[in-house]
Amino acid sequence: MTTTRPNTEKHSDPDPIVAYEAEVYQRGLRYQRPPFTFKPLEWEALAAERMSADARGYVLGCAGAGETARKNREAFGRWSMVARRLGLGKPRRGGKEERGEVLLPDLSVDIFGEKLPYPIACAPVGVQKIMNPDGEMAAARAAARERVPFILSTASSASIEDVAKANDSGAEQGQGRRKAESVPPRGEKNRRKVHVLFDSGIRSGADIAKALALGADMCLIGRPYVYGLVLGGEEGVAHVLRSLLGDLELTLHLSGIRSVAPEELNESVLVKEDELF
Ligand SMILES: Cc1cc2nc3c(=O)[nH]c(=O)nc-3n(C[C@H](O)[C@H](O)[C@H](O)COP(=O)(O)O)c2cc1C
Repeated sequence: MTTTRPNTEKHSDPDPIVAYEAEVYQRGLRYQRPPFTFKPLEWEALAAERMSADARGYVLGCAGAGETARKNREAFGRWSMVARRLGLGKPRRGGKEERGEVLLPDLSVDIFGEKLPYPIACAPVGVQKIMNPDGEMAAARAAARERVPFILSTASSASIEDVAKANDSGAEQGQGRRKAESVPPRGEKNRRKVHVLFDSGIRSGADIAKALALGADMCLIGRPYVYGLVLGGEEGVAHVLRSLLGDLELTLHLSGIRSVAPEELNESVLVKEDELF
């Protein structure tokens, strides 16, 4: 498993999530639609229609009778987020909150000695060329564009060199420099030796928020981005990542949670469904 990190320095747009939302509305005025639906639970069925029988068996198949996969999904449903937002204000990204404004949540995470803009990465998924002829290259390009780390499977159908190139050369150079910076200063507060990267069953922004609140440092997205790859190649993967991040941002914003940092997003923002009634 190899991780390619996005080049965070090259992208200057302060809020690509809001920009994508605005673009979708603007295009909608001209009767142009996004590549496919924003509803994550519909992606699987749509992608299944487009896949060969072999690819379907490979991607949609679960171990045994699928009991663990089902329980993973059900576990998310047992938790709800507690909304704490009282005031309304114009959403603002970054900077200082002025009167009548509410800052959009900070989604950045400090992990492996780096600051990444979002708390998600693409999970390792093998042999992606059976889903799309551009396979890992298209998925890695979309991940780099969206500033999301891409974890390359050891069973990749593209070489590590090609995928690193798909992530643009700036990423490699940036990575080399950042490696030296990535050693945390001695005695740094909150220094953590183990990072928890959670995956299995993440299908919405709320799932990401809940997993982080329960202790994950980062969430990996597996099948959903593969569905994006099937449905729209590079654009499809970008659409999936943007949809999930937009949903995460909205979920936190509407719940009054200001960042994904553990001081803000922790078990205190969750309630167990069976304790509600
Ligand atoms: C088609 C497919 C291929 C996978 N290949 C790998 C792999 O090569 N290496 C690996 O560590 N995990 C692999 N996984 C596991 C994923 O990284 C991830 O853990 C799993 O898909 C659960 O996340 P999800 O529910 O978001 O799909 C694969 C999963 C799928 C569906």
